[in-house]
Amino acid sequence: MKQVKIFDTTLRDGEQGPGSQLTLEDKLAIAAKLDAMGVDVIEAGFPISSPGDFKAVTEVSGIVENATVCALARAHQKDIDSAAEALRDAKTARIQLGIGASDIHIKYKFNSSREEILEKAFDMVSYASSRCDEVQFFAEDAGRASNDFLVRMTDTVVQAGAKIVNLPDTNGFCTPFEYYEKIAYVNKHRKDKDKAILSVHCHNDLGMATANSIAGVMAGAGQVEGTVNGVGERAGNAALEEILLILLVKDNLSITTKADPKFIVELSSMVSKAMSNPVQANKAIVGKNAFAHSSGIHQDGVLKDRRNYEIIDPAIIGGTLPDLVLSARSGRAALKDRLNALSLTFAADDFEKIYSRFLVLADQKRFVEDEDLKWLL
Ligand code: KIV
Ligand code: ZN
Repeated sequence: MKQVKIFDTTLRDGEQGPGSQLTLEDKLAIAAKLDAMGVDVIEAGFPISSPGDFKAVTEVSGIVENATVCALARAHQKDIDSAAEALRDAKTARIQLGIGASDIHIKYKFNSSREEILEKAFDMVSYASSRCDEVQFFAEDAGRASNDFLVRMTDTVVQAGAKIVNLPDTNGFCTPFEYYEKIAYVNKHRKDKDKAILSVHCHNDLGMATANSIAGVMAGAGQVEGTVNGVGERAGNAALEEILLILLVKDNLSITTKADPKFIVELSSMVSKAMSNPVQANKAIVGKNAFAHSSGIHQDGVLKDRRNYEIIDPAIIGGTLPDLVLSARSGRAALKDRLNALSLTFAADDFEKIYSRFLVLADQKRFVEDEDLKWLL
């Protein structure tokens, strides 16, 4: 079994989602819960961006007991100084700094050249290494960058002292197969493999963030990044709970983490409330319908044996199984099961009539509630 590191960026990239700003109290509560869960790294903010973010990184650094606390910086000395200062109380501190790696970013964002970008990356990683024990470098827009250039960039920043090289699919552009090939290619061709690990950080613009993240770790990345509920810039980041559950359920991947999934439900609701950002009902793992069976065929199968339609026991993530939903799509088995559970007795010969009355009611109401059932007898 290979163990990958879990890097949570709910407080930094997650908070970049429009309208998702968190209070300091919320940030501290979420950081404490992530720490208890056992994530390896908590990215707490971007200190130069505002006095509030500087303070948040300082305070999170003061309370986190086990995880490494990370702060974001651009490839500028003043950003790195601000990050190093904000992290001064962290037990283990990391600065993540980076610069564009795709030709689009190099030309249209930096009006620069590949050679100049490599020089800047080397200088700023060297400087950050003199200010902080751990330096993570991000090759922005790696998803659209040349794989050969990413190999050169990785070698350059590792030589300058980076211990982690993040190859983000910043714009959520890759398919899982393309991202797998990218990470595998860089991993195969880079030098000094024992000096640094690769990290994967995927955005969800085309709905492939989680799939890409898993492809990245399968291709050899030693760290995977995500946010609770998949919150984040634009369509968001890879959802941490999805990554954790995939690695848990798919034991044929032989990849583990040290994060404890039993905190997932609690964290999901904390983040959703704090960001005033409801979780969509059919969201994998944490949506309110994620474990709800509504159709007659599925309900009958679940009542015979839960393994027919359940691949996850919600207790693993600190959740509970909801009752079977009674709707116009429900069958006799589910209705009988609920009547029995509520000790509502009826003569066997009457059941067909009860079921017909149930269907009439269910066609009128979206859900038939427990209190409706006694009126059917
Ligand atoms: O998506 C991205 O490229 C980022 C970097 C700052 C890591 O969030
Ligand atoms: Zn990002």
